[in-house]
Amino acid sequence: MKPFVYITRKVPDAIVSRLSASYQVEAWTEEDKAVPREILLEKAAVADALLTVISDVIDNELLSRAGRLKVVANMAVGFDNIDLEAASRHGVAICNTPDVLTDTTADLAFALLLATARRMTEASEFVKEGKWTSWAPMMLVGTDVHHKKIGIVGMGKIGTAVAKRAAGFDMEILYHNRKRHEVAEEMLGAQYRSFDALLQESDFVICLAPLNDDTRGMFQRKHFQKMKKEAIFINASRGPIINEQALIDALEAGDIAAAGLDVFDKEPIGADHPFLTMKNVVALPHIGSASRETRLAMMETCCDNIEAVFDQRPPKTLVNKDVLQF
Ligand code: DGY
Repeated sequence: MKPFVYITRKVPDAIVSRLSASYQVEAWTEEDKAVPREILLEKAAVADALLTVISDVIDNELLSRAGRLKVVANMAVGFDNIDLEAASRHGVAICNTPDVLTDTTADLAFALLLATARRMTEASEFVKEGKWTSWAPMMLVGTDVHHKKIGIVGMGKIGTAVAKRAAGFDMEILYHNRKRHEVAEEMLGAQYRSFDALLQESDFVICLAPLNDDTRGMFQRKHFQKMKKEAIFINASRGPIINEQALIDALEAGDIAAAGLDVFDKEPIGADHPFLTMKNVVALPHIGSASRETRLAMMETCCDNIEAVFDQRPPKTLVNKDVLQF
């Protein structure tokens, strides 16, 4: 019997066809609705492989019921939706999709910074709503990006790619990271700072750190209060790194000037979320890696990893390396 692969979202036909050449494949087919938890549990119970996305919770409950499951190919660089320790205990390989999305996500993060600084979404709405009746010297003025100080929290691959873009804008690059990044220091002139010093000195603070036990809730109200009043905060990593209520309070109180957010505590955010009525917030629906080329490359990486596991080869981007002995 062919291994059964369950894909938890609607994906292009080419991906289903590629996997169908070797496996029995079924995919969730609704574009606008995530697979309900009960169905995910039901499919996981009989699947040999799952191709998942970041909103699918792969926890001990699911893994305990998934007696045949060998691999979860998560279509993201992040894997905070997965209980890694439980996966290793159950002998399930967890794979992610790093590298292929680095530049695309950095492009979006930097575009979000530009859009927030130059009030681009607000200006676009202004034109579309027919409010543009004259040209005025101070109409929709924003703040400069070039020659300002950017503070990058999380200098991994995406952080470094954002730093490269910032260097092209003649920005001074500060960063805070678990470890010093000698290459970024030498090649881009990036300067290491303590978290507090980075918050105090930066004109733009951009969060690109992964979500884990160390970073969850890393930004509280006191951290926004340490930033400059004109500072702009950008988050393109994971919502729960920020205490969202603290950010709302900070924006309302004028502790900082604006925020550009691609990620939120709970996604999608509700229709009554306070961010939706704040003019100084640019909100995007978690589209960091959403270019056609990159999303396809991420899905192909998931297929490579699934095939590797069934061919008994080491998957290229295995996260829980303790699980498989090849
Ligand atoms: C990732 O890869 O972790 C992104 O957030 C999903 O697009």
